[in-house]
Amino acid sequence: MQSKQSMHGSWANRWIFILAATGSAVGLGNIWKFPYITGENGGGAFVLVYLVCILLVGIPIMMGEILVGRRARQSPINAVRETAVEAGRDPRWGLIGWLGVLAGYIIFSFYSVVAGWVLHYIAGMGTGQFVDIGSDLAGKKFESLLASPDQMLIWHSVFVLMVVVVVAGGVNKGLERATKIMMPALFLLLLVLLGYSFNSGSFAEGWSFLFSFNPDALTWDAVLVALGHSFFTLSLGMGAIMAYGSYMGKKDSIGATVLTIGVLDTLVALVAGLAIFPIVFANQLDPGAGPGLMFITLPVAFGQMPGGQIFGFLFFLLVGVAAWTSAISLLEPATAWVVERFGLKRLHAAALLGFIIWLMGIASLLSFNHWADIKIFSMGIFDFLDFITANIMLPLSGLLIAVYAGWVLTQKMTRDELALDSSVAYSAWQITIRFIAPVAVAVIFVVNLYGKLA
Ligand code: PHE
Repeated sequence: MQSKQSMHGSWANRWIFILAATGSAVGLGNIWKFPYITGENGGGAFVLVYLVCILLVGIPIMMGEILVGRRARQSPINAVRETAVEAGRDPRWGLIGWLGVLAGYIIFSFYSVVAGWVLHYIAGMGTGQFVDIGSDLAGKKFESLLASPDQMLIWHSVFVLMVVVVVAGGVNKGLERATKIMMPALFLLLLVLLGYSFNSGSFAEGWSFLFSFNPDALTWDAVLVALGHSFFTLSLGMGAIMAYGSYMGKKDSIGATVLTIGVLDTLVALVAGLAIFPIVFANQLDPGAGPGLMFITLPVAFGQMPGGQIFGFLFFLLVGVAAWTSAISLLEPATAWVVERFGLKRLHAAALLGFIIWLMGIASLLSFNHWADIKIFSMGIFDFLDFITANIMLPLSGLLIAVYAGWVLTQKMTRDELALDSSVAYSAWQITIRFIAPVAVAVIFVVNLYGKLA
């Protein structure tokens, strides 16, 4: 089985894989969510905990996902089943693949709605609608977007279409080509924005907010948020990284590659924070505004600053690109599976799945207006989908992947596939994947669920 190639193609080289996986990892999670949860949880202490979670939980699980994908060279659903068979275990372990692909699919449906807001803001910034608006007006503008299903539907549709087009192109002509253009653009935009915030923002204040360690701010809740986020930001538990891993070169080192992806993803989150907070502070705004940080606080800040119109536009462009490359990796696993299972052409598979996601997204966007009264466990549809994926499906899927890679697969298989240089490195991986990661994830799972439902 080792010399197999995926029927979908493979990455041209190791760096393309690193960039594609980084494209998946760097998304709304890094630029929208990381800064606001850091803001809500008091800055530096939170950042430190988050880094520990990436290292002890995120990185080992990502290695596990990639090794399974590359070993089987199939979509996650088939890859988990096939490696289970190879290890002489029950093929029903393949259900883990299902769980991940399904979670990714559901996430896409509401991720696309938020990405649609971003597209709306790109257009708004580009046409100068935010010049000199105060906090009140910015808040109202955002509310009126949420109240308008037509507006949201347009942008949601555009976004789904953008993603379907890339996935329909396949691994080489679609994903790889998009990666080559979008990732350099993303890094460049980020650097430009960092330069702007360095020159025009209260950089020192932003810096110390992110990096000064204040142990008082460290609460148990913050630890849970950090752990959950380390998962989401690395695109784990959704088949995305496993699918990308199935197109990875046989000789490339999984350990070194994953470390690079983890470092890049973290750097982008930190640099995004360094681009955002100095601007927030320079305009005497509140860093702890929560989810509205990006859609209300930042437009106000940009609206008041010299050159803010251009840089605000570039900022939302950056977020749009990041969301795009992430969503591609959410659609890819299901598409690969439909191609494998039903022999459909990739174009048809991507279009069909995109259409279903588009429909599901409509339910999400209506939950902000016409369907606001429909409640599932007292949550609106959007919040409910976010809740079951982020708090139930992802941790569960991550936990199962850790158990699967650590305990179910044979050590011979994992040792062979990881091909780490030293046995110390392999033992470190074994300890984290068998004990630390599953225990940590099980704890967030139970505590979160208890906290939310109790
Ligand atoms: N990692 C992405 C982010 O930080 C989200 C994502 C999760 C993308 C899973 C793909 C798969 O926004």
